[in-house]
Amino acid sequence: MRRTPRTILALALGLGAAAGHGALEAGRQAELLNLLEQDCGACHGLTRKGGLGPSLLPGALAGKSDEALMSTILDGRPGTPMGPWRPLLSEEDARWLVQELRRGPRR
Ligand code: HEC
Repeated sequence: MRRTPRTILALALGLGAAAGHGALEAGRQAELLNLLEQDCGACHGLTRKGGLGPSLLPGALAGKSDEALMSTILDGRPGTPMGPWRPLLSEEDARWLVQELRRGPRR
């Protein structure tokens, strides 16, 4: 794989999160995983392969920026079933969810 500056930045951010900088508390991570499976999963599929909503597997999101995905999660897509989650999620939560989607299902 050719490493573009963007991938290097993403890797650096990923390492930062793994080292605990700006990482969410374990309890919040568990809540978000549950939300992802139960609530997001209702439309995107329990295994994120898609359903009413499109697939959220890493390959499907590859060409999309973190910012675009975060803004879809926080503000929804007007005129589609994808609603805004800002009332329930902080920007940090949304950023963590995008990283989680990029990493792929854990089981
Ligand atoms: C009521 C059904 C529904 C629920 C619940 C839902 N989504 Fe969606 N979501 C959709 C639909 C439909 C789209 C596609 C919108 C469009 O046509 O642009 C979408 C789009 C997206 C996208 C953009 C995908 C892309 O390829 O650009 C992301 C990311 C996303 N949803 C994440 C989430 C997350 C995270 C949750 C839970 C917090 C969630 N969604 C909950 C229906 C849903």
